[in-house]
Amino acid sequence: MILRINIGAFVLTDAVRDAVSALNEDRLFLRSTVAVQEGGMAAALDYLSQRSTPELLVVETTAMDEELFNELNALAEVCQPGTKVIIIGAENDINLFKTLIDQGISQYFLETVTAEELKTAIVDAFADKTLNAKSRTIAFAGLRGGVGSSVLAHNVASELARLYDEDVIIVDLDIPYGTAALSYNLQPSQTIADAIAQAGSLDETMLMRYLETGGKNVSLLCAPGNLNSGIEITPNALEAVLNIVKQMASYVILDVPHMWNAWVQDVVVDADDTVIVGAPDLYNLRDGKNVFEFLSPNRGMEAPTRLVLNKVGELRKGELTEKEFKEVLGTKPSLSIPFDSDAFAGAMNNGEMLRKVAPKSKATQEVETLAKMVSGKESLSKLTKKSGGGLLGSLFKK
Ligand SMILES: Nc1ncnc2c1ncn2[C@@H]1O[C@H](COP(=O)(O)OP(=O)(O)O)[C@@H](O)[C@H]1O
Ligand SMILES: [Mg+2]
Repeated sequence: MILRINIGAFVLTDAVRDAVSALNEDRLFLRSTVAVQEGGMAAALDYLSQRSTPELLVVETTAMDEELFNELNALAEVCQPGTKVIIIGAENDINLFKTLIDQGISQYFLETVTAEELKTAIVDAFADKTLNAKSRTIAFAGLRGGVGSSVLAHNVASELARLYDEDVIIVDLDIPYGTAALSYNLQPSQTIADAIAQAGSLDETMLMRYLETGGKNVSLLCAPGNLNSGIEITPNALEAVLNIVKQMASYVILDVPHMWNAWVQDVVVDADDTVIVGAPDLYNLRDGKNVFEFLSPNRGMEAPTRLVLNKVGELRKGELTEKEFKEVLGTKPSLSIPFDSDAFAGAMNNGEMLRKVAPKSKATQEVETLAKMVSGKESLSKLTKKSGGGLLGSLFKK
């Protein structure tokens, strides 16, 4: 989950300044802005009288009794409606606390606050925005076109639905060329192009009409899969659509086209789990190095970025090994999936999942393991025989 809010803090003490500054290091606030100023309440009143208010104010004050109420009334006058306020104050009075909460102050901390307490208070204050925290977003992107990122996204989606009996929504972000509908043998009447076109007024009921069913627990927001939808994804429209999708399922699988632009970058950075699929050759190695050098610092250590090698064995000669990828990318592939034309061509031609057409194949087994890895439910050590597991972080070498 990632919160997109702007926060203004007016502090008096080092401890509170540090607590606020720590938000910048937290992935939850990756897309938030945090501005810290000295001077406490006086500075806040002065500053806000001339500017628009941030969505969240954190204000430190030493005022007591009447003086405190006068300050808060003055603050209310300069704040836009809907602004949330967290106060760190000196007055130790339980009635005061109740009155403040009644007046719309989100939280009152006595004397100081820790980074952890502040984070919890912000999550509570923005409960409406954190509602979709119940869903886990998993993005699939290929290092090159045709490496299998879409087919793996769709199969992992069906495995998640089967393994955990939870709702999964696949969002096909490849408007002209997307294949999710083909994978599930669907002829969608409405698609993501409709959702993007209606992004400004979209709600769950509307979005429900755009979804197709891909078996038990699986729904799809398909791509039109033709060249003349006339619709292009923009970062804002996509965010609006995804905010609604995330409230409708436990897992949201994003099938990301092989492109590199602002919204693709947002998607692969913001997803709870990002799976980068590559084939074991030199071009994929070069692109993999670039992609991991971008994703590693941008996603941070808390959010896994996985590399999956696919179509292993297709080239026979001259293929690169997992070890070579690890040396250059600094991350060990989470797993490798063999080239298996029978299984994959069978699935494609029938519009069925690998488990249906090739239940005993290595590919089906590996897809199940990948689903467990990205589920957020299983411990990683159980799933990886060898050390590593493809998690980025300290492993990353230049
Ligand atoms: N391991 C594999 N073995 C054989 N064919 C595969 C394998 N993985 C993917 N394919 C096939 O490769 C083609 C491209 O896959 P797709 O998922 O559309 O790639 P991408 O989304 O990365 O462009 C499809 O025909 C798919 O069935
Ligand atoms: Mg694709």
